[in-house]
Formats: sequence, C-alpha cells, structure tokens
Amino acid sequence: GVAAKIAPSMLSSDFANLASEAERMLKFGADWLHMDIMDGHFVPNLTLGAPVIQSLRKHTEAYLDCHLMVTNPLDYVEPLSKAGASGFTFHVEVSKENWQELVQRIKSKGMKPGVALKPGTPIEDVYPLVEGENPVEMVLVMTVEPGFGGQKFMPEMMEKVRTLRERYPSLDIEVDGGLGPSTINTAASAGANCIVAGSSVFGASDPSAVISLLRSSVEE
Ligand code: DX5
Ligand code: ZN
Repeated sequence: GVAAKIAPSMLSSDFANLASEAERMLKFGADWLHMDIMDGHFVPNLTLGAPVIQSLRKHTEAYLDCHLMVTNPLDYVEPLSKAGASGFTFHVEVSKENWQELVQRIKSKGMKPGVALKPGTPIEDVYPLVEGENPVEMVLVMTVEPGFGGQKFMPEMMEKVRTLRERYPSLDIEVDGGLGPSTINTAASAGANCIVAGSSVFGASDPSAVISLLRSSVEE
C-alpha cells in the first residue's frame, strides 16, 4: 500500500505562534504540515502566502504541504518555491487550460505537484492530470467546501476516493475537511492515505493521541 501521511492543518493553529505550533505538531508525530493558502477570491477567506511560508521555513525542515485555494496558482509557483514550499496542490477548477505548464513549473522548482477538487467537481476532471505525460503526484479530494476549518465531513465524497484508489493503486490520495477520530475509518477504508486534520487535532486535549489514532487507522 501507500504510506500514511498525517498532516495537521495549520489553519487551526495560533498564527501568532506558528513556529512553536509547528514544532509541537511534529513532536506529536505529524508527517507533514498542511498550509492553507487562500486569496479571498477563489474562496471567501484570506489566510497566508509565501512570506509566512518563508518565515516558517526558517524554523523547520518539515514537509510543507501547500494547498492553494487561489484563482491564479501560476503566480504562486516562483514565490512559494523560493519560500521553501514542499508540495504545491492547486485546484482543478481554475487550471482547465494551463495545467501542463503549471505542473511543469512546479516540478522544475523541485516541488511535488498535486491537484485538488471541490465537492461539486466530478472525479473524471482530474484523470488527465494523473495520466498525462507530466502527471501530478497527489490528488486532494475535498470533503468540505474549501475556505474554512471546522466544517462537517461529507461522506458522499468517499465514492471519489474509492474510484481513484481502484484506478491508481499507488497514488497519494489526500482528504481534507472534517477528518478526525469519528470519520477517519470511512476515509481510510475508501483508500485515502494522506490525512489533513485541523480542528480535530488542534481542538483536542491530547493532539498527540489524535495523530496516533489517525495514523493507526490508515495503516491498518
Ligand atoms: C479548508 C481547508 C482545510 C481545513 C481543514 O478549506 O482546506 O485544510 O483547515 O480543517 P478541519 O480539519 O477543521 O475541517
Ligand atoms: Zn486544506
């Protein structure tokens, strides 16, 4: 199977103490740090961009899993690579014509390309990006409408995950939105291996126990 990656979403952290929040999550066993980049246009919220990634990079060598909820992802490739981003996952809804160029640029900057899809977007839309000559290396299936942490997991998205897993046995499949102890088994049994979790981790009295539980559910 594919390796489990547990990625706390730093959107739920205390932004005023980002470095220590990141350090805490890594100490608790996080594999990746999920960084939600929003532009206030693709989604009705504004979070952080390359300057914050650059600041965080000075404090950690961790894999920074950047999720770009932005209308013009191409504009972010250069600044984010310079800032030290590791993964660059853009949305399929905004990359209809230029995805080949986008993926090429992401790879040439040494980042791992991924594609994300909103709940209303059919899974077929990402097939060309996974099967092309210059493929993406991860698909992020959104299990809430992108924009905010703390929303309810949409189990009906698991059909997308199952379909992807059947078609691509070794692909990294990430799920994002509403993941926690009560939803992880649904996502893991559908075939997700990269698990983003914000409020369930940061809101827990024992975040380390939640991270361990998420990992063991995926590895089972
Ligand atoms: C939502 C973001 C998520 C969010 C997840 O647009 O992409 O990464 O932080 O938060 P929870 O786990 O609380 O749903
Ligand atoms: Zn996200």
